[in-house]
Amino acid sequence: MTATKKKIQFHDLHPKLESMRDEVFTGLSTHPKQLPAKYFYDQRGSALFDKITQLPEYYLTRCEISILQQYADDIARHIAPESILVEYGSGSSQKIKILLEAVQPAIYMPLDISKEHLLNSVNALATHFPDLAIHATCVDYSKPWKLPTLHDSHKPSIVGFFPGSSIGNFEPRRAIELLQRIHDAQGIGSNLLMGIDLLKDIKVLHAAYNDEQKITAQFNLNILHHINRELHGNITVDYFSHCAFFNPKHSRMEMHLTSNLDQIAHISGKAFHFRMNENIHTENSYKYSLNSFEQLVRIAGFKVDAIWSDDQQQFAIVNLHAV
Ligand SMILES: C[S@@+](CC[C@H](N)C(=O)[O-])C[C@H]1O[C@@H](n2cnc3c(N)ncnc32)[C@H](O)[C@@H]1O
Repeated sequence: MTATKKKIQFHDLHPKLESMRDEVFTGLSTHPKQLPAKYFYDQRGSALFDKITQLPEYYLTRCEISILQQYADDIARHIAPESILVEYGSGSSQKIKILLEAVQPAIYMPLDISKEHLLNSVNALATHFPDLAIHATCVDYSKPWKLPTLHDSHKPSIVGFFPGSSIGNFEPRRAIELLQRIHDAQGIGSNLLMGIDLLKDIKVLHAAYNDEQKITAQFNLNILHHINRELHGNITVDYFSHCAFFNPKHSRMEMHLTSNLDQIAHISGKAFHFRMNENIHTENSYKYSLNSFEQLVRIAGFKVDAIWSDDQQQFAIVNLHAV
């Protein structure tokens, strides 16, 4: 083991296959049908998401990175030195590089459900930051979880980083539950930096989820490939189409997969019927006003401490304080 490798610890709390099967069976047995967005992310899904972040229509990643670059030093002033920096849904660990340069934490703790991608990402990160202690955890944060216990006598403070507007994938009730879990795990007095997508021109939103290269469509359909592989399914993926639109009632973009014909597919031996034009609801991406976001986090026990945004107010990074 090299010196770099010793700095990476891996905690495997990856959910069991039975849990995926139960959620998929429940989701496809309800009306309207739905599937949890977390199942987009296997190795291929994570790679497709990385491609989405490079698309001209996908303003979210560009905006968030530009805010981080512009305000990194100011953001760092809100973070105690030598802290534990926990990233929720770390993906390729790209944005964190900007914070790691500015903050220099004692430990970086990325959490993600996509195991192989998480391992590859932290190995790549360790070559850039060879002295950084990394505790990578594969976990489903939508279920109850605990941060890995560190046998460290000086109890460093914990700072959370939850980028990508991933909180927007949760309906308000679920978002509050998740924020409460983060509050419990990090403790009173800790900070949570969150990236959130702001409400904007619907044409801009529509384009971001309906890109010309159809990468988002492949990403959406990947949930069916993932189910076929993990749960021995025989869904004909080509018999479904990507559909994404803004739902003004809920202030959210929605993604669905539409069945192109009347069909039956089998998953782990169980038959599911899809009618022609029937939708499977696969993702919500809530778009917030700063006001609506503040109300949401307040219920979970957080107070807004600082806000950074881009010139066009497309996206915001908000520092929350656990009270
Ligand atoms: C929208 S991507 C954001 C990736 C990266 N943080 C960024 O901002 O570009 C969401 C990330 O969260 C992870 N993820 C989604 N649902 C999750 C869950 N329930 N538990 C843990 N990780 C999850 C995905 O694997 C993916 O890496």
